[in-house]
Amino acid sequence: MDKFLITARCTFGLEGILKKEIMRLGYEIAKSAEGFVSIYGDMNDVYNLNLNLRTATRVLIELSEFEARSFDELFDNVAEIRFKDFLPKDARFDVEKISSVKSELFSKSDCQRIIKKAAVESMKRDHKISRLTESGANYPIYAYIKNDTAKICLNTSGDSLHRRGYRLEQGKAPLKEDLAAGLVLLSGYYGREVLADIMCGSGTILIEGAMIAANIPAGINRNFGFEKWKTFDKDQYSLVREESISRIRPVENPILGSDIDGNVLKKARENAKRAGVGDMVHFQKMDMREFRSKKKGGIIITNPPYAERIGERKITEKLYKDLRPVFEALDGWRMYVLSGNEDFTRLYGKKPDKNRKLFNGNMMSYVYMYGLGNNKK
Ligand SMILES: C[S@@+](CC[C@H](N)C(=O)[O-])C[C@H]1O[C@@H](n2cnc3c(N)ncnc32)[C@H](O)[C@@H]1O
Repeated sequence: MDKFLITARCTFGLEGILKKEIMRLGYEIAKSAEGFVSIYGDMNDVYNLNLNLRTATRVLIELSEFEARSFDELFDNVAEIRFKDFLPKDARFDVEKISSVKSELFSKSDCQRIIKKAAVESMKRDHKISRLTESGANYPIYAYIKNDTAKICLNTSGDSLHRRGYRLEQGKAPLKEDLAAGLVLLSGYYGREVLADIMCGSGTILIEGAMIAANIPAGINRNFGFEKWKTFDKDQYSLVREESISRIRPVENPILGSDIDGNVLKKARENAKRAGVGDMVHFQKMDMREFRSKKKGGIIITNPPYAERIGERKITEKLYKDLRPVFEALDGWRMYVLSGNEDFTRLYGKKPDKNRKLFNGNMMSYVYMYGLGNNKK
């Protein structure tokens, strides 16, 4: 089969980083939009992207994109798709995900029903059968409608890719793995300097950092939806895995995690071990105010607590204030702080060199960047 459109989905704000990741894997970007980055490729590339991308949440096969303002238009365009190119006769194909934003077709349940009906028609026509059993593997259909344009896709990943498989233990407000990796990649860290998270919680930023430094494929510890497909080429996937694993390299510089809560550090250690980076990350119980380093140059990436209850506000405000002298005592370091607190820079006491909007779950947050002049690359 010719190459087809493969679209990686990401959290709002991570598109630029995802693009860079895809280009580092050797691909040319075909198109991108809010939350989506696409390339042309084949099933090998589907395997490769699923296994290696750190900031994507899903890898989709994009079957069609078209304008649709009425149910008839939606039906006709979906019925035109050649599902048979990817789905065997006995495939199950539920419309598992549907979103509609700023569009005339706003009833998700109606759109879901119509897409399914049209897909059934296409499958019967192209497989030349009058009855579908849907008794085989699942090929989940994902549909995104925005500004009256519909994108119809197949989800190749299964569960969201942020579920790497290593995090069974979590702290109070853990960062999602894709976002943690996004922060690390945003900082330009690839293992060449010291990396520290001085409020590390369950350790997500550092575990992702260690995997980046060591070039460990993001999805090495998990399975993917495509592995159940009839068309799955196990040998080909093994080759892709072996090739990715062959690029794993030793980590030379320290990766340091500390937190004031000893219990959460136990979880962090367990997670790191499961991710295969237990011996690369050093965790220590410590108040962030005590963090010192004689090393010249290094990176702090951290996500301080966010005061949800009124009683906690004073404590977190003091924490933001006390962060500045800790950072300023370091020589030639950069710092990236992810915070949902709008007052962060005022409390910290200094404007960042740069900031960037990101969504942390549903919470609009910013990454505040300090010491960017220290980045000599
Ligand atoms: C939002 S959580 C970090 C979550 C983390 N990124 C993760 O993925 O699990 C903030 C962490 O800051 C820690 N913390 C609060 N005050 C601290 C202090 N003074 N020094 C060090 N850590 C502190 C908390 O124990 C908590 O684990």
